[in-house]
Amino acid sequence: MSQQNLESLDVEAIREEFPILEREFDGQQVVYLDNAATTQTPDPVVDAMSDYYRESNANVHRGIHHLSQEASIAYEEAHDRVAEFIGADGREEIVFTKNTTESENLIAYSWGLNELGPGDEIVLTEMEHHASLVTWQQIAKRTGANVEYIRVDETGRLDMDHARDLIGDDTALVSAVHVSNTLGTVNPVGELTALAHEHGALSFIDGAQAVPNRPVDVSEIDADFYAFSGHKMAGPTGIGVLYGKQSLLEELEPYLYGGGMIRKVTFEDSTWGELPWKFEPGTPPIAEAVGLHAAIDWLEDLGMERVQAHEEELAAYAYDQLAAEGDVEIYGPEGGADRGGLVSFNLDGVHAHDLTSILNDHTVAVRAGDHCTQPLHDKLGVPASTRASFYVYNTREEIDKLIDALDDARALFA
Ligand SMILES: Cc1ncc(COP(=O)(O)O)c(C=O)c1O
Repeated sequence: MSQQNLESLDVEAIREEFPILEREFDGQQVVYLDNAATTQTPDPVVDAMSDYYRESNANVHRGIHHLSQEASIAYEEAHDRVAEFIGADGREEIVFTKNTTESENLIAYSWGLNELGPGDEIVLTEMEHHASLVTWQQIAKRTGANVEYIRVDETGRLDMDHARDLIGDDTALVSAVHVSNTLGTVNPVGELTALAHEHGALSFIDGAQAVPNRPVDVSEIDADFYAFSGHKMAGPTGIGVLYGKQSLLEELEPYLYGGGMIRKVTFEDSTWGELPWKFEPGTPPIAEAVGLHAAIDWLEDLGMERVQAHEEELAAYAYDQLAAEGDVEIYGPEGGADRGGLVSFNLDGVHAHDLTSILNDHTVAVRAGDHCTQPLHDKLGVPASTRASFYVYNTREEIDKLIDALDDARALFA
């Protein structure tokens, strides 16, 4: 790590770029700790999108007029920027979707429905988000394939011995979450991908909670497919990314059909255009692509190593503060290198929804529920948990406010 990366983030300066963090409810300033759901958007990203609408708005790929050319270049360059950011070979490997969920579905429909059959195994983990779990479950039902789950051990980590047992010659796909949105666990996705490849299987990595928070290099992981969402990384809603190795994407059938993705259409048949446009029919999310580009520029200016260090520091602090309370059950590994920037927990005798509502009375915004990991919550033996998740603008003082508010919940419910 370079000296520059060891310096910590200037959180005060960062916060000035987020007017929303000044909002007050009932005279109290908002404490936004729901970043795993959606992060806030800094002024430079909002400005980039508003400049686009004010100055360059037009449809892409179709016009030869100046505005369309400008919009097309901005849209294409956003693909190049994403490719560079995650270590892909080029824009051919970057498909813009609506979100991580759509990226999962794209591969499930394009590859899964066409390639899977009885006897094939899809290996997931017990900590998958529903975006992957529900999708592959349904594809398995439709194709006759089986779904198996790599166990989560009592520390909240994957049981890699179990992974080695499960992944075998019948395995067609290993799909794993990079950083769990419930446990915070950082999974060994490179090792899982290597295991998949040893047995001729493909790997799909759900990076929704990884790309926003740490440096990610898909070529180092050697993932075949990798997905994430713009709205969890200081970017806009409405845009997600599917990375796929070019050789694989070339072979896949499109998932959606229509204009903008074709080479030649006759009354009888159609052929497909080049990557990545083959997977992006219809008018794409152009302003959102401009916003995602700006978000990546903004994050890289901060330095992804520093972003990661800041989140690890806050997660470790939150973990320690919550653990010191004595009546709080925390899920997932202790703070440190294998925990991302979030902590899910329950306060003894208080339902997660009640606790979250009391925290909201203190304008502390956290999330209650199963966080789209119902089977994992079943395994943990709780219907729901409260999740505090951090980003570059959060501080220890904000975590202290959450801890202070626990007393109110105890007084009312415990
Ligand atoms: C790990 C993980 N995967 C997938 C998703 C789905 O993301 P999106 O709602 O942007 O499709 C989320 C969102 O919470 C997530 O945390």
